[in-house]
Amino acid sequence: MLDDESYWECFDNCGLEGEFDMIPIDFSGKVALVTGVGDSDSFAWHISKGLQEAGAKLVWAVHPRMLTIVEGFLKGTAQEDIEARTLRRGGGTLAVEKILPCDVSFDTLADVPEATRTDRRYQRVEREHGDYSIEGMMKKVGEAFGRIDILIHSVAFSPEITKPAWEVSRQAYMTAMSISAYSLTGLCRAALPWMADKPESTSVVSLTYLAGERVVPHYGGGMGSAKAALQIDTKQLALNLGRRNIRVNTISAGPYASRAAKAIGKIQDMINYAAERSPLPRGIKPEEVADACVYLCSPLASAITGQVLYVDCGYNVMGV
Ligand SMILES: NC(=O)c1ccc[n+]([C@@H]2O[C@H](COP(=O)([O-])OP(=O)(O)OC[C@H]3O[C@@H](n4cnc5c(N)ncnc54)[C@H](O)[C@@H]3O)[C@@H](O)[C@H]2O)c1
Repeated sequence: MLDDESYWECFDNCGLEGEFDMIPIDFSGKVALVTGVGDSDSFAWHISKGLQEAGAKLVWAVHPRMLTIVEGFLKGTAQEDIEARTLRRGGGTLAVEKILPCDVSFDTLADVPEATRTDRRYQRVEREHGDYSIEGMMKKVGEAFGRIDILIHSVAFSPEITKPAWEVSRQAYMTAMSISAYSLTGLCRAALPWMADKPESTSVVSLTYLAGERVVPHYGGGMGSAKAALQIDTKQLALNLGRRNIRVNTISAGPYASRAAKAIGKIQDMINYAAERSPLPRGIKPEEVADACVYLCSPLASAITGQVLYVDCGYNVMGV
């Protein structure tokens, strides 16, 4: 036990005397491009709120078919819409600088098949907003803001999510891979001119799930394979883009009843199962995923890249 005088001597010598600096999470002047907002339950919605609370300007790249719906969530006057937009910290309201359509299945407009190109909704989006491919969307962000500091990949889809692995068609498997995994590579490549070689590292964060490493019943349609691909791509891209001072990480979130997760069919069973067996015996909250994401994008994580960060109440460590 130190006496009073020795205690204060130690304190004086550790550099903490005088004014304390705040924890350095300040995204003022930074631009965060967020994909995957579908509604106010989306992880991407909560992540956006967290990034804005830390000072970032938000740009959303939204599925072309979801554009009007998402705009509705930002304008809704019902009490629940207002509450969904209220920031948790700082007392403000969710504000998005720009919303652009983007179907992450397509790197360029030339990749869009005839059937999609001539779909009425896609035609209207193209008329009103122009190029909705990854390349077209990214160019608009780059030209409008001149920089991208944070890129959030929060997109996943399989047309056969309810089918067990052995029944999944080749086409559905490839679609799941393309939209849920390859799109990370496509987005990173297109964002490179606006993210690379900054004095302070820029950050890419995606969302994955334990089914990319272990067998999770009900998580079908090739989505487990897509998450496995997403996780190794995260590590590979961390190496390639680390040379350009870009960090690439992924968050493995516990089960949560978003729109995409409800399509799995058994999501509430999955949530209950994990909650009963997790070290923290409860389900996760989307705000907890948002906070972890803010941390990964911040200077506090400046040496962290190529990692899978589990935000799952510890469920992944369990053997039985
Ligand atoms: N909810 C969970 O239990 C859970 C757990 C772990 C990881 N995740 C992951 O979190 C991410 C976000 O999912 P969520 O749970 O917030 O559900 P969500 O339905 O809110 O988000 C999925 C988004 O993907 C978008 N999308 C699908 N296909 C697209 C395309 N071709 N182009 C552009 N956007 C497209 C949808 O419009 C939607 O906004 C996904 O990667 C998902 O796999 C979810």
